[in-house]
Amino acid sequence: MADNIPDKILDAKEGRFPTTLEGIKQFYDEWAPTYEKLTRHGFKNIDGVDISTESLKICKEGGLYRRLICDRIGTNKLDINDDSYDGLILCGALLKGHLNLGCFPELIRIVKPGGPIIFSVSSNSKDTFDKFKDGKFESDLQELVCKGLWVKEANELIPDWIFNRPGHQYVYKVV
Ligand SMILES: C[S@@+](CC[C@H](N)C(=O)[O-])C[C@H]1O[C@@H](n2cnc3c(N)ncnc32)[C@H](O)[C@@H]1O
Repeated sequence: MADNIPDKILDAKEGRFPTTLEGIKQFYDEWAPTYEKLTRHGFKNIDGVDISTESLKICKEGGLYRRLICDRIGTNKLDINDDSYDGLILCGALLKGHLNLGCFPELIRIVKPGGPIIFSVSSNSKDTFDKFKDGKFESDLQELVCKGLWVKEANELIPDWIFNRPGHQYVYKVV
């Protein structure tokens, strides 16, 4: 590991994320050169979206991704056609100051009917952060079920989700 990783990992581990979108962008721009170990699992046609230009540059060097899109994931429309993907994974995205739950309708739009949307969140985040706590996370997800946009497939507790701490992994299927 490069020398500059431990501070960033410690910050992330302790939940010390910047609170503004610009701060989040800068945080990951600085971490990007040492962040990713690319690993191949046989998937093809993988696209990625992130607001951190430096993270995307590193992704590009790895040659794994077909298309890399620098944009905010939120309620804004992404430059991606409807029903483009067989499935979608949000990885390390539902954190303090990161994605808000309002992003899901836009993510549902770009996944084909029947395709899975997979995401996870730490138990600590669910208990602590305003956007998740007091059952808000579950009720926001359920609201999209009631609207007929997706159906729930799984909600699994992962005891060692990250840093020896628990988290929940969710799978919803686009209708
Ligand atoms: C913990 S890292 C996870 C990176 C990568 N997805 C992974 O799992 O290795 C969080 C990522 O979310 C990105 N990010 C934070 N808020 C975002 C937003 N609203 N839209 C798009 N990307 C965002 C950051 O730039 C950062 O690369």
